[in-house]
Amino acid sequence: MTRTDAAAQYNPMGTTALVTGASSGLGPGYAHELARRGADLVLTARRLDRLEALAVDLAEKYGTVSTVIPLDLAAAGSAAELVHDLADRDIRVSTLINNAGFGRSGSVVDAPADVVRGQVAVNVVALTELTQAFLPDLLSAALTHPHGAALVNVASTAAFQPVPQLAVYAATKAYVLSLTEALWYETRGTGLKVTAVCPGPTETEFQAVAGNASRGPRRLMTVDEVMTTTFAALDRQAPPPHIVSGTSNRVVAWLAGSAPRRTVVRVTGRLSRR
Ligand SMILES: NC(=O)c1ccc[n+]([C@@H]2O[C@H](COP(=O)([O-])OP(=O)(O)OC[C@H]3O[C@@H](n4cnc5c(N)ncnc54)[C@H](OP(=O)(O)O)[C@@H]3O)[C@@H](O)[C@H]2O)c1
Repeated sequence: MTRTDAAAQYNPMGTTALVTGASSGLGPGYAHELARRGADLVLTARRLDRLEALAVDLAEKYGTVSTVIPLDLAAAGSAAELVHDLADRDIRVSTLINNAGFGRSGSVVDAPADVVRGQVAVNVVALTELTQAFLPDLLSAALTHPHGAALVNVASTAAFQPVPQLAVYAATKAYVLSLTEALWYETRGTGLKVTAVCPGPTETEFQAVAGNASRGPRRLMTVDEVMTTTFAALDRQAPPPHIVSGTSNRVVAWLAGSAPRRTVVRVTGRLSRR
């Protein structure tokens, strides 16, 4: 069987996919492609108006049903709340896109404690709790809908090395990458498609939330480019444990993994001062 065998393509038609962080940036990108492929959606984030507008858009364009659940994933117990809410509504999730996340620029010593805690709470704790809670449903969906069940955890190219001035964020993404690759192994042979998506800097609200100044002539990737990379991986018989979107990002990630750690952190430290 070739890696792009049509029968192995990711086909969530008739299933339900949960997308966290669906109110802006990559989240709506995932929601559109999932709906285009015939999945109903559960859309969650804090900004209800954005989620409702997206749900209407998806219904008009693809005729799919979206359940909108406003939620602050930084709040303790929020993942469990979401799990119970979906159980009460009798919604079984076949695909989980753990996309919600944020970073904040600056040195750790100057960072407000709640911002540090928030990054760990959303990027690490909520992602882990949602992954563990939904994994049984994802695995059983992989049996009933071959090639229609997936777990996508959004990491970052920041996962491949320490990043001074984005230290906590990069550490949370290293966690996401490590967790997802281990899960990829643990779920081998089950039919569940598991991968960590590692975008480089992308045109979303992320940079504004992070407080990053414009990075000059460096081109940001588009949401569409990240979607193309993600779904090309999901369309493979067995997606790789992680994917990096963009050739130059792949090269940088490879270099970061190959060079001595001390050298790597010196380089990222110098770049972060620019
Ligand atoms: N853009 C990049 O350069 C880049 C690069 C690598 C990785 N990533 C990763 O890509 C993912 C998506 O980010 P993005 O680029 O699309 O940025 P974005 O446009 O800022 O979107 C972030 C999403 O996460 C949600 N979110 C943030 N805090 C939340 C909270 N406390 N509770 C619930 N939802 C929360 C936001 O919704 P509300 O504000 O409505 O709650 C929003 O929908 C993140 O995991 C990010 O780390 C982004």
